[in-house]
Amino acid sequence: MDSIVVKGGRELNGKIHIAGAKNAALALMPATLLSEEPLTLTNAPRLSDIKTMTELLESLGSEISSLQDGKVQVMSTHGRINTTADYDIVRKMRASNLVLGPLLAREGNAIVSLPGGCAIGARPMDIHTDGLEKMGASIELNDGYLHAKAAGGRLKGAVIDFPFASVGATENIMMAATLAKGTTVISNAAREPEIVDLATCLRAMGAQIDGDGTSRIEIQGVDRLGGATHPVVTDRIELGTYMLAPVFTGGEIECIGGRMHLVENFAAKLDAAGIDVSETKDGLKVKRRGDRPRAVNVKTEPFPGFPTDLQAQMMAMLCFAEGTSVLEETIFENRFMHAPELVRMGAKIDVSGNTATVTGVDKMKGAPVMATDLRASVSLILAGLASEGETIVNRVYHLDRGYEHVEEKLSAVGAQIERISSK
Ligand code: UD1
Repeated sequence: MDSIVVKGGRELNGKIHIAGAKNAALALMPATLLSEEPLTLTNAPRLSDIKTMTELLESLGSEISSLQDGKVQVMSTHGRINTTADYDIVRKMRASNLVLGPLLAREGNAIVSLPGGCAIGARPMDIHTDGLEKMGASIELNDGYLHAKAAGGRLKGAVIDFPFASVGATENIMMAATLAKGTTVISNAAREPEIVDLATCLRAMGAQIDGDGTSRIEIQGVDRLGGATHPVVTDRIELGTYMLAPVFTGGEIECIGGRMHLVENFAAKLDAAGIDVSETKDGLKVKRRGDRPRAVNVKTEPFPGFPTDLQAQMMAMLCFAEGTSVLEETIFENRFMHAPELVRMGAKIDVSGNTATVTGVDKMKGAPVMATDLRASVSLILAGLASEGETIVNRVYHLDRGYEHVEEKLSAVGAQIERISSK
């Protein structure tokens, strides 16, 4: 298994191009199931999670070609398709559950494996299934698979009030509702930019959707959707991650493709920590004002709050800040696994339940570390950039799920970082 070796202490300067959003692409790809005509995504990220979604859609009968070194995906799903999403693929990635809504909408039935647990928490699917049941589906759990059937072969519009603004459930219900009979209203819908991106693409395919980006989304079902070409929105989590790089090392980085509206809350926290973020013609420029960032308190929340997917990276930064910060994780129950690894590098972190108290230190030392999830892996790389000596991050397959060419992007701006292949 590959590992990433980082030698700390180098200032970073230059431009980093931010890719299309993994989480947007993972919701956009299943939208191919809603139409007989081709759906083309441009600005697609080149990641192993995208390969997994490709594999899943191909197993259902979609034809997918990847052009321009993977940056363009042309997908087409015509004729009869398979409606069973197999455990062997679904277990690799929770976002596989995003085929449930589209399959039900297209075929009136679907059998989709439950994704199973993941390192950061239990992550059930009750919000998805309750919503689909309100739309007339009957859903049973058998042998680890959800067996879903729409009454009369077609879903019908419904008023659905989510108990929590789940991103995946909003995407699943929104896709299912595009082809349902009548109007669906989702209240307490998620407001993430990836939801807006999906709605924009579905509208280009002919769907009637209003209110995306707010907590009330209204979808008027139509009889059929056509094809479309859609550019995937910038990855705000990759953006936030690279915005932090110069905070660890000094220097100035321009994140090309970044826009403030994607990271408003995060940028406000950086400002409070003594870091300048400014919008340029092409992206966002970041530079720290003093030698060290200052402590800030952070609480993760659904968008537009502070993203849980940037919590690990922020914790890594706060390990070097002046003062004591309190980080509260409200989205996932078990998302501080990076803390003990950071402690091995010299950080002072005290975890109690869903709260971590971080007392900044002025020096950390590189160490061999291991990551248990995607964002945790990258937080260890960031910490390595600012630590003395060598940090070896093992189990980088997590990283490859969500960051394309991380070592190339960082070495191009001056970092000493390389991938060591185990072969
Ligand atoms: C998406 C993102 C993930 C991000 C998360 C929160 C994708 C592919 N992944 O995941 O990177 O960390 O949003 O911003 O877009 N929940 C339930 N029942 C459900 C669904 C969710 O209890 O039916 C709970 C989950 O266990 C979790 C919380 O709701 O505690 C958030 O989940 P959700 O917003 O659904 O996240 P995902 O869509 O899985």
